[in-house]
Amino acid sequence: MGDIKVRGKKEDEDEKAEVDIWNYVFGYVKIAVVKCAIELGIADAIDKHGSPMTLSQLTTTLKCQPSRLYRIMRFLVHYQIFKEEPITKDSIGFALTPLSRRLSRHGERSMAAMILLQSSPVTLATWHSLSARVLDSGNSPFETAHGKDVWSYAEENPRHSKLIDEAMACDARVAVRAIIEGCPQVFDGIKSLVDVGGGNGTALSMLVKAFPWIHGIDFDLPRVVAVAPKVDGIKYVGGDMFDGCCMTGVMRNAYKS
Ligand SMILES: C[S@@+](CC[C@H](N)C(=O)[O-])C[C@H]1O[C@@H](n2cnc3c(N)ncnc32)[C@H](O)[C@@H]1O
Repeated sequence: MGDIKVRGKKEDEDEKAEVDIWNYVFGYVKIAVVKCAIELGIADAIDKHGSPMTLSQLTTTLKCQPSRLYRIMRFLVHYQIFKEEPITKDSIGFALTPLSRRLSRHGERSMAAMILLQSSPVTLATWHSLSARVLDSGNSPFETAHGKDVWSYAEENPRHSKLIDEAMACDARVAVRAIIEGCPQVFDGIKSLVDVGGGNGTALSMLVKAFPWIHGIDFDLPRVVAVAPKVDGIKYVGGDMFDGCCMTGVMRNAYKS
């Protein structure tokens, strides 16, 4: 009788590693394809259409090359970001899922700006300095990559500054809604609310709408409050949160209102 070779744990682990390693080799592809989907406006197009779209309809609407768009859609369907649904007996369309709705540039649940910020060359460059940071080179990864801190960089790059504001607002919309719905009682008796580093005021605008007795003060860097959309019930104050005199003034103002 020949020997029966019993596979050991080590061989199983090795075989798994042989497959898993490819997830690291191409680990960036998922975010790259999702970024591509946002830039092309795939979710927005299907949303505007109001029902699933065939590849041909999507190709025409987005002015894309059909076979390349098909490869992108196959990837997105594989990861259940979009889904396929029959349109007629012989045609299939691409439909939105809760995940792809978050790739739309519009809507309360949009996370598009956050994904565009995190996948931007500016942000990705900082990850290349991670090992230097662990070795303690001194500077933050952002400073190593760009020669200045993130807020100074944003000051010199208004488009990046706007992307930061919009990305922060994505998160604020989700978190603040949960607070308003889950524990509205924490706002009882609050007359003034200062959001220090409040960005474009998204969090405060939701709060003053839900609790109209609150006077809001959106405090952020002057260039950020200058471009924030203005909302009734909110005062916009520009300054430096690390400047004690500036903060004392803001707090005095809050007490007065
Ligand atoms: C992480 S973001 C938070 C944004 C906002 N709270 C939100 O959730 O949407 C930090 C904010 O702090 C602001 N900021 C950074 N340095 C500041 C400073 N020295 N003084 C005032 N605001 C500052 C930035 O402009 C940015 O809007």
